[in-house]
Amino acid sequence: MTVTSTDLETQLSELQQQATAEIAAADSLEALESFRVGYLGKKGQLSKILGGMGKLDASDRPRIGKLANEVKTALQTALETKRDDLQAAAIRAQLEAETLDVTMPGVVRPQGRRHPLNSTIDRILDIFVGLGYTVATGPEIETDYYNFEALNTPADHPARDMQDTFYLPGDRLLRTHTSSVQIRYMEQHEPPMRVVAPGRVYRRDTVDSTHSAVFHQIELLAIDKGITFTDLKGTVREFVRQIFGDVEIRFRPSYFPFTEPSAEVDVKWKGSWLEVLGCGTVDPNVLKAVGYDPEVYTGFAAGLGVERFAMVLHQMDDIRRLYGSDLRFLRQF
Ligand code: DAH
Repeated sequence: MTVTSTDLETQLSELQQQATAEIAAADSLEALESFRVGYLGKKGQLSKILGGMGKLDASDRPRIGKLANEVKTALQTALETKRDDLQAAAIRAQLEAETLDVTMPGVVRPQGRRHPLNSTIDRILDIFVGLGYTVATGPEIETDYYNFEALNTPADHPARDMQDTFYLPGDRLLRTHTSSVQIRYMEQHEPPMRVVAPGRVYRRDTVDSTHSAVFHQIELLAIDKGITFTDLKGTVREFVRQIFGDVEIRFRPSYFPFTEPSAEVDVKWKGSWLEVLGCGTVDPNVLKAVGYDPEVYTGFAAGLGVERFAMVLHQMDDIRRLYGSDLRFLRQF
C-alpha cells in the first residue's frame, strides 16, 4: 500500500486534534504522562506516523517533516501547559485543605488552680522554710512502731484511745498522725535538724462538718543542743503572726505521749479562742528510741491540722466541701 502525503497530513492533523482534546481533559499528572508516552514516546503514535515518511516522494518529505515537527511542538507545549495547570491545582487543593480558620471557635480548656488544701499546705510550709526548716515526708502505711511505739506510746498506753486507728493486715496501719515522720527522719539524720513534714493521716472518725476519716497534718520538729520551751514559743508565735497577723495567743497545758511538757496553742480569732496546734518539748524517751542522747540533745515538736487552718482562713462551714469536686466552691479560692 502506498502512502501519500495527503494520508500523512490527515493522520497528523487527526493526531493533533485528538491529542489536544485528551490532554485538555486530563485530570491527573499520571494520566498526562501516559498520554505523553502514547503520543510522543519512542513507540508512540507520532513515531508510527513518521515511520511512513520513508515511502513518501522525496519532494513531499520536507513539508511533511516540518508539519510533523509542528505537531510535535504543539503537543509538547500543550502537555507542559497542562502539567503546570495540574501542579498548580494540586498545590491550591493542598493549601485549601490545610487552611487555618482563625475565626473558628476554639476548644475551651478550663484553667485549673491550686486546691485550697494544697495552697494552705504551701503557705504553711513556706513560712517554716523561711525559718530554716527542711521539708520531709514519710509513708502513709506505717507500722505500729513508727506510729506509736517509738513515740513513747506503748500498746497498753491510754493515749492510743485518743486516736482510733485503721489497722491493716500484718503489723501495718494507716498512720494516725504525721508524728511518725519525726522518728523516720531522726533515724536517717543526725542532729541538729529543723524539719517540717506535711501529709495525709487517717482516723476512724465519724464524718461530720468538722471531721473526716482522711485529713492532713503538718508536723514540726527541731532538735539541737540547748533547745528550750522558749524556742518553741518563739517559733509558734512567729508562725501564728505570719498566718493570722497580730492576734492574741495562749499556750494551754496539755498532754501528748511524745512531748513533755506539752501544750495546745489557741489564738483569739474573731472574738473567741481557737485551738490551732499541739506541741511540746520532745520526750527523752523519743530521743532514746532513735539513739540520740537526751543529755546532749533536746528539741521541740508540734502538729497541726491543715483542714482546720484552711477552714478558718477561708471561712468554710463544712470540711466535706474540701473533698468534693464542686467547682463552684473550689473556684473561690
Ligand atoms: N500528733 C498529734 C495529733 O495527731 C499532734 C501533735 C501534738 C504533734 C504535739 C506533735 C506534738 O508533734 O508535739 O494530735
